[in-house]
Amino acid sequence: MKQVIALEVNGERHEIAVQPSATLLQVLREELDLLGTKQACDAGGCGCCTVLLDGRAVYSCMVFAMSAQDKKITTIEGLPKDGKLDPLQEAFIQAGAVQCGYCTSGMIMAAKEFLTSARAPSDPEIRQAISGNLCRCTGYHKTVDAIRMAASGR
Ligand code: FES
Ligand code: FES
Repeated sequence: MKQVIALEVNGERHEIAVQPSATLLQVLREELDLLGTKQACDAGGCGCCTVLLDGRAVYSCMVFAMSAQDKKITTIEGLPKDGKLDPLQEAFIQAGAVQCGYCTSGMIMAAKEFLTSARAPSDPEIRQAISGNLCRCTGYHKTVDAIRMAASGR
């Protein structure tokens, strides 16, 4: 039986009736129409569904929506400010790190958490930070370039 829960997503509060088994990913995509968060493996193996939960990068396919109550949820749609893309989004474009784009929002959200604490990360540190996010297109080189660019541009 569905239960009404309250979620704070990108600064907006939503009351939504969900099944207790609904994942955060399902609710974001199917109830809130936030399609930037991608669904791929649905099993915690690819990182496409990464969002921030109180600033921590999590796989939203592995989080029950009910357990995300009372936490601040940030999706890729929540990154632009005042009509401007987040510096990480800009850097991904500038570096040519977006090909099919399916992994991109998850990559950016993982990098977003990483750059809150990493000031001048090395390439191996960047690679470690995105090691939970798979990309089938770029070979990761341009992804690392983008994250380094974003870090150095702060
Ligand atoms: S869809 Fe969540 S980790 Fe792959
Ligand atoms: S850009 Fe296609 S999977 Fe990463």
